[in-house]
Amino acid sequence: MTEGLLAGISRDDALELLKMHLKNEKLISHCIASEAIMRAMANKFDKDEEVWGIAGLLHDIDYEITNEDPGRHGAEAAGILLSKGVSKDIVEAIKNHNAEGLGLERSTLFDHALTCSETITGLIVATALVYPDKKIAGVKPKSVTKRMKTRHFARAVSRERILECEKIDMTLNEFVELSLGAMAKIAEEIGL
Ligand SMILES: [Fe+2]
Repeated sequence: MTEGLLAGISRDDALELLKMHLKNEKLISHCIASEAIMRAMANKFDKDEEVWGIAGLLHDIDYEITNEDPGRHGAEAAGILLSKGVSKDIVEAIKNHNAEGLGLERSTLFDHALTCSETITGLIVATALVYPDKKIAGVKPKSVTKRMKTRHFARAVSRERILECEKIDMTLNEFVELSLGAMAKIAEEIGL
């Protein structure tokens, strides 16, 4: 446990830990994008930016060891993270982002924020890739909301999970705008 940190781990250590467990660059980019959106969400809801950001960054840390078994996704992460002193709040939100697989229920603002934030990254990346320059900077909120309704577009991205933004009183438009703005800031880092 690193003293003085609400998250229980510094951002640098969290990224290093993530890279020890994930080898797929796209997955690491997904985690960095989720972090960026969660930081913006924390600011919007007046929550601790570091805690929410690190939850976004670490939420899929066990993905490569659990992708054959969704019933362990989040539970394995909890073991890894608790042994590193990561805060219980973060670990709970990470487990609950796979509430479906673990037989849990999402109930808190943090739970819903993490779930909709990590999910919308997929829709935004898929939308950016439609454009000739493949850059997030050129993506307008409307391009994303329109594709949200096109069922066959990026069909693996759960619209239901994205719409959990409404459970925390954000309209889809508002959530898309915030997410695009957050991802645009780290676009270069994730090659978009
Ligand atoms: Fe994820």
